[in-house]
Amino acid sequence: MNLLDRINARQFSVAVVGLGYVGLPLAVEFARAGIRTIGIDVDASKIDALRAGNNYIRDIADDDVRAVVENGTFAATTEFVPVHDVDVVYICVPTPFTANKEPDISYIVQASEGIAANMRNDQCIILKSTTFPNTTQGHVQPILERGGMKVGRDFYLAFSPERIDPGNKVWHTANTPIVVGGVTPECTKIAAAVNRVIIAKVVEVSSPKVAEMEKLLENIFRSVNIALVNELAQLCDRMGGINMWEVVEAAATKPFGFMPFYPGPGIGGHCILIDPYYLSWLAREHDFVTNFITLAAEVNESMPFYVKQMVLRQVAHMPVTLKAARIVLLGVAFKRDVDDLRHSPALRVMELLTQDGAENICYVDPYVPSLDLFGRTVHAVPYSDSVIADADIVVITTDHTAFDYERIVASARVVVDTRNATKNVRTGREKIHLLGSGE
Ligand SMILES: NC(=O)c1ccc[n+]([C@@H]2O[C@H](COP(=O)([O-])OP(=O)(O)OC[C@H]3O[C@@H](n4cnc5c(N)ncnc54)[C@H](O)[C@@H]3O)[C@@H](O)[C@H]2O)c1
Repeated sequence: MNLLDRINARQFSVAVVGLGYVGLPLAVEFARAGIRTIGIDVDASKIDALRAGNNYIRDIADDDVRAVVENGTFAATTEFVPVHDVDVVYICVPTPFTANKEPDISYIVQASEGIAANMRNDQCIILKSTTFPNTTQGHVQPILERGGMKVGRDFYLAFSPERIDPGNKVWHTANTPIVVGGVTPECTKIAAAVNRVIIAKVVEVSSPKVAEMEKLLENIFRSVNIALVNELAQLCDRMGGINMWEVVEAAATKPFGFMPFYPGPGIGGHCILIDPYYLSWLAREHDFVTNFITLAAEVNESMPFYVKQMVLRQVAHMPVTLKAARIVLLGVAFKRDVDDLRHSPALRVMELLTQDGAENICYVDPYVPSLDLFGRTVHAVPYSDSVIADADIVVITTDHTAFDYERIVASARVVVDTRNATKNVRTGREKIHLLGSGE
């Protein structure tokens, strides 16, 4: 049987390189579908956890990980050698940016080299890490072809971006449509067939470059629209008398041509903040300036500064200095109901207030037990009514659903709400200072 027939007959095996927020759910999904799956990660602590059947990604059920480890469909290793024995290899490694906000594809390069050293004929390699157009053909393909094998003839190569939305209860790996673009039509066909084993709808495009650009468009679209409402939220506050949240809700009643986005303390995570920079960097190489990306970044990255100003304004009305003010941040993860702290705007707010002299800041977050603040480990404070009541200011930076906002407002003296988390709170509204409320 050739590779496509083996895939369609579900008689194939998979390796997933990089077992983080993207790779582990993908690997578990294949294993749950009965496909023999190997997970490869350079982080030995993750491999040890998985071998013991322990899950570390909140979006996956612990029982699902344990079950596939115990029944032998899923195994984890730090070695690339098993790549030789599988039919399909996914690459799900990080794509961060450097201190100067330039793309860092070194993880993709390292993973590709590990795969190249162990490849054999008739395998399909699928890159999933978000990256700039031409990474698959311009960077991964040459590494895989170094040993003399040729794409389309000896192996297949495609780009198929990830759309997972951690914390989303409705859309998950299996029911979220996915795009795939191969280097040759045969590459697209094979990579699409692999994806169809676990994903209901697979959309084929003409090349990896289209798929790479498509993923960036998705994330830039979000970044630009969030920046738009963030800017208008600031305008509402400047003008007074118009609540931006009410404006967005009203606009969202239009059944076509409008999609609601909401203001907030800024954007974070591993995607929307970083990915646009991958394209603006590439654009510079072509003497092109991506104005929308730059402007959106400027507005979104100014939001933690805006939140800091909101806090300072409240402190100015109190008989306490910023240095002595007891400030509690509620939620530090970059978005609701996740444990991901990467580039979190809440962390930025904490840093900015600390830089300005605040010495009494603590945070409550059921998902983030500790964090690093300028090289110092800060531990979460367990939630209690007295922690809230003792604070001069409570800042809602992440609107986790686990928080009881009615109770928080009842206990607090002053609440700075950056997420409209208190929208259903009826009593004590005079204590709430909502970003974009125009008050
Ligand atoms: N997290 C998301 O919600 C999300 C959504 C869509 C796309 N993406 C993209 O997917 C990619 C992965 O993101 P993530 O959030 O899963 O990252 P992550 O940091 O959670 O996981 C990446 C894993 O790769 C491992 N790794 C690094 N180098 C390796 C190597 N050379 N060989 C093997 N393993 C290696 C790391 O140890 C880590 O466990 C990124 O490009 C990201 O932009 C992420």
